[in-house]
Amino acid sequence: MTQRSFFSFILFLVCFHTASAIKIISGPYLQNVTDSEVTIIWRTDADALSWVELAPDGSDSFYATAHPRYYAADMGRAVIGRLHKVTIRKLQPNTTYRYRILSSEVLVEEPYYVGYGRTTATDVYGREALRFTTTGPADDSLEFLMVNDIHGDNKKFEELMAGFRKGETDFVLFNGDMVSFMDNENQLFEGFLNKAVDMFASETPFIMVRGNHESRGKFAQKYMNYFPTPTGKPYYALQRGPVYFIFLDGGEDKPDNCMEYYGTAFGDDYRAEQAEWLEQVVASEDFRKAPYHIVVCHVPPVGDTWHGPAHSKALWLPILNKAGIDIMLCGHLHQHEWHRP
Ligand SMILES: [Fe+2]
Repeated sequence: MTQRSFFSFILFLVCFHTASAIKIISGPYLQNVTDSEVTIIWRTDADALSWVELAPDGSDSFYATAHPRYYAADMGRAVIGRLHKVTIRKLQPNTTYRYRILSSEVLVEEPYYVGYGRTTATDVYGREALRFTTTGPADDSLEFLMVNDIHGDNKKFEELMAGFRKGETDFVLFNGDMVSFMDNENQLFEGFLNKAVDMFASETPFIMVRGNHESRGKFAQKYMNYFPTPTGKPYYALQRGPVYFIFLDGGEDKPDNCMEYYGTAFGDDYRAEQAEWLEQVVASEDFRKAPYHIVVCHVPPVGDTWHGPAHSKALWLPILNKAGIDIMLCGHLHQHEWHRP
């Protein structure tokens, strides 16, 4: 081997080594932060087995003691893949925790053997560990910021986040049409999720409300993989501080049989399903006991000129007006409007 070919060989090894090391390419971001639970989501560029290490808040080194591990698992088995979701339960209310995410690359997965490559993790040595805080059941105030209809425009998103106050803003509410369509995972992350992580989402949770544009495209059916909810559906309810929130999914705006949907829209049945669920929610003790009630829905149920909102208005507004709602927050129109009940 000549000297030149020897160095080329070494260069090849260095490049191969660098190219093959598993990387965290998105996240982590927080979902479903309650007084006892959190879900942490991230993705890697290779298949991996993943877990979270959890530590109490404090100024001591993350390496001072061993920390409990919580794995990305489902149905009694680790979920090996590139999208990682770890749910941690039985947390203390109103408590700050430090955390580190870890992914071990899976090189071989056979029925009786799993072979691992390298492990990647968030940094807890060169910088502070990431933190999240559980909610307090008796919190009497709440601060949140709502952003919607950015349609993948990261610059607009950043500008709209000017009011965000780390440690003061409890969550950021994404009220739909964060992207113009759902084509693939990269487009979803590049549309707003990566930007959200850059700005806040590893340490302050966001709450996602589905817009009509998130129901379009061949990746639309994967929506719940990225935005888990208590109901397992895009519509759900939860209490934060003194506020009981109801999140609704207005679905598409045009009639289901419009040529634009090519036979894929079934919004009428979906909105009727939500009306039945809504009746149960407003009859619940949690709803009745809460001091404040906010409904969030991307498409405002106003007007009679488009079918989707007119249908929501006919089905949902009688239930909501009877139940007593303090305010309903919508998006979709790309302009400011104010409607009385
Ligand atoms: Fe919209």
